[in-house]
Amino acid sequence: MKDIEIITPIKAMTYAELDATERRLVEAAQAALKGSYAPYSHFKVGAAILLANGEIATGANQENAAYPSGTCAERSACYWAGANYPGVAFEMIAIAAIGTDGFPTAQPTAPCGACRQALLEYEKLAGHHVPVLLAGAEEVYRLSSVQALLPLAFIEF
Ligand code: THU
Repeated sequence: MKDIEIITPIKAMTYAELDATERRLVEAAQAALKGSYAPYSHFKVGAAILLANGEIATGANQENAAYPSGTCAERSACYWAGANYPGVAFEMIAIAAIGTDGFPTAQPTAPCGACRQALLEYEKLAGHHVPVLLAGAEEVYRLSSVQALLPLAFIEF
């Protein structure tokens, strides 16, 4: 028997510590929050994905009266990117959220399990690590890859 330990390194960065690309992507995720439709949870999420062609794909959560029919911000962004720029690699992902109090969440908001799995597929397609930026009110968590967000993931290919 042996123990296996999985460690997730995270860089907690102030906004001043972001480079220009990171800052632009976080701002795009924050701007995407305007597109959130969250009349049920009142929790808004925005996502932005930098693509290898320089485009930024954005998405926001879209809720529905039939609750399970709603979609998270991350999946609305990654499926939009996949549908509109098929085969174009993801380079970086940023996520921002506004809590039920109407203010940016103090703690960075991380994607749900289903979104992690969806994003992981695009990281595999990209063939390289895709850094993830989780924006909080005061600091941004930077993970080096989607894989870091989903250790021991199901991967079929
Ligand atoms: N939500 C996201 O958009 N992304 C996540 O990864 C977690 C949750 C949305 C779904 C729902 O509209 C609201 O946040 C509250 O769960």
